Amino acid sequence: MERQSRFPDWTTLYEREPVEKMAWYCEELDPDLAFELNQRHLSQGRFIDIGTGPATQAMELHRKGFRVTGTDLSKAAIERGKKLFRDIEFVQDDIVNSKLRGQWDYAFDRGCFHCLDPKDRPRYVETVAGILHPGAFLFLKTFSWKESDWGYGPWRFAPQDFEDLFSRYFSLVSSKETVYQGALPKNPLALFCTLERKA
Ligand SMILES: C[S@@+](CC[C@H](N)C(=O)[O-])C[C@H]1O[C@@H](n2cnc3c(N)ncnc32)[C@H](O)[C@@H]1O
Repeated sequence: MERQSRFPDWTTLYEREPVEKMAWYCEELDPDLAFELNQRHLSQGRFIDIGTGPATQAMELHRKGFRVTGTDLSKAAIERGKKLFRDIEFVQDDIVNSKLRGQWDYAFDRGCFHCLDPKDRPRYVETVAGILHPGAFLFLKTFSWKESDWGYGPWRFAPQDFEDLFSRYFSLVSSKETVYQGALPKNPLALFCTLERKA
């Protein structure tokens, strides 16, 4: 029997399926990001939403007052975003082979990093370090090592993984055990981390 592949084909998924049915679909701003922004009194500056997908997070960040860029591997997701959300800049971009130019004050990654092939993680870290200025924050949400491995879907992480993977360019400011809100009957266990770009 053929084993289910770990991830969907991102390029065709957004052509075939309504976003509302996707496991990660969440209309509200991710509550862990909302909490972090409130705690830090952040409401303006340039935000990049990496792997923006349905762009609900990008839109909510725009509503909060940020200038937002949403990027995704999927052309269909980017075209949909451009049509629906005119106030957001959308760029089709593979974050591990990126053509992004510029510097952002904040980055949000809700579910892109944990989908990458492990061998691409160092490239991701270098790229994101390159597009954030010193002192900028990367807010990262992934599945937690406490969630069981279903044999498909996202990789799981512990806080120490972020220390190990990001320490060349980032300091791990905080990490918290939480859940990944979406369209699944039960929210999977997740980690929400704040990382600060080193000088
Ligand atoms: C689990 S979904 C999360 C979508 C969105 N962040 C959200 O929370 O609704 C992961 C997203 O990452 C995108 N993605 C996967 N690999 C990528 C890559 N190498 N570069 C950019 N985006 C990627 C997928 O197309 C998909 O939209």
